[in-house]
Amino acid sequence: MKKILITGGAGFIGSHVVRRFVNKYPDYEIVNLDKLTYAGNLANLTDVEARPNYRFVKADITDAAEINALFEKENFDAVIHLAAESHVDRSITDPTAFVMTNVIGTVNLLNSAREFWKGDYATKRFYHVSTDEVYGALGDTGMFTETTGYDPHSPYSASKASSDHFVRAYHDTYGIDVVISNCSNNYGSHHFPEKLIPLAINNIKNSLPVPVYGKGENIRDWLWVEDHARAIDVIFHEAKTGETYNIGGHNEWKNIDLIHLLCKIMDKKLGRKEGESASLITFVTDRAGHDLRYAIDSTKLQEKLNWVPSLQFEEGLEKTVEWYLDNEEWLTNVTSGNYQKYYETQYSAR
Ligand code: NAD
Ligand code: DAU
Repeated sequence: MKKILITGGAGFIGSHVVRRFVNKYPDYEIVNLDKLTYAGNLANLTDVEARPNYRFVKADITDAAEINALFEKENFDAVIHLAAESHVDRSITDPTAFVMTNVIGTVNLLNSAREFWKGDYATKRFYHVSTDEVYGALGDTGMFTETTGYDPHSPYSASKASSDHFVRAYHDTYGIDVVISNCSNNYGSHHFPEKLIPLAINNIKNSLPVPVYGKGENIRDWLWVEDHARAIDVIFHEAKTGETYNIGGHNEWKNIDLIHLLCKIMDKKLGRKEGESASLITFVTDRAGHDLRYAIDSTKLQEKLNWVPSLQFEEGLEKTVEWYLDNEEWLTNVTSGNYQKYYETQYSAR
């Protein structure tokens, strides 16, 4: 029996990772630690919440004493660390929150691992889920590989780069078994509607302006979130200690082209006449320091661990739109600001 701490499991990617591990590994004990910030939502996990191999713990990774007490009590075999402040725009208005959670929170987890796994580092594993944004921005050509130098530009990516460095430093200095993966932009169900795709779906549905930063020429490399969760599963189980893997979909889209595709899908799904949703596109002031292009070279992951993306983008985007249209209550709850209180009440009542 393996006891795994998954942090940030109530968020977008974390909930897909928790679901995958709970379903696929009934003999593992999965402990989901989450602060339930605005982005954390236990409604993401209603399908697995009653499973015997799943538990939720509400905690804040910036609270070292709380994290230490949990490590002492639980004797975890591994950590899969996803908890983070994840939105670039928020990092521009409030960088400190990103330093606290992404840097200090990660160091707190590493310190607990260091203290409670002492003498046993080789049999335990600390997996840090990171981002391709640590590599900075690409021009028109090239791709990020695992050896690309770090060159973060936003407070978000600087905080993630810093946490990656700490994870490696704890491996090199103390011998803790660590792995890191750096992934490109995810999309799919349960994505908080502040990020481009779910925000655009929600706005199109409500006939609100769809804000496109600058000229919409920035490029992102989109990956189906369940393919990311599957990559994390493979890397967690098979990567050698100290290794880094890049994860990406080889699926680059200019923002404006992506939004036009989304509008086309939404017109079809909502029974609107062609072009109706696209008329909502509104060009707005660009994001400060907006990285032009991300593109991931995931050859290492494909060749060493046999992982390949499973879904074509058009199909994945259509499935994503369908999920949002079918889950109106989820969308209303997360955008109303009441959901957190509601689910806290639900949780303490269980
Ligand atoms: P998210 O914002 O949807 O979820 C983050 C989760 O962390 C939330 O449940 C939140 O409540 C929790 N959290 C935040 N602060 C916390 C704290 N102090 N203590 C405990 N829990 C806290 O983020 P996401 O998009 O699911 O991203 C998850 C991870 O994957 C992050 O580390 C992010 O950097 C990384 N990542 C995201 C993407 C992407 O496209 N979304 C791509 C690559 C890497
Ligand atoms: O590359 C991985 C990263 O992808 C993750 O590490 C981050 O956690 C995740 O949020 C995401 O960052 P981005 O900044 O790329 O994602 P976002 O959805 O915020 O923006 C995608 C692109 O769309 C980006 O070029 C900015 C643009 N954009 C975004 C929003 C919210 C718009 O044009 N309009 C918008 O309203």
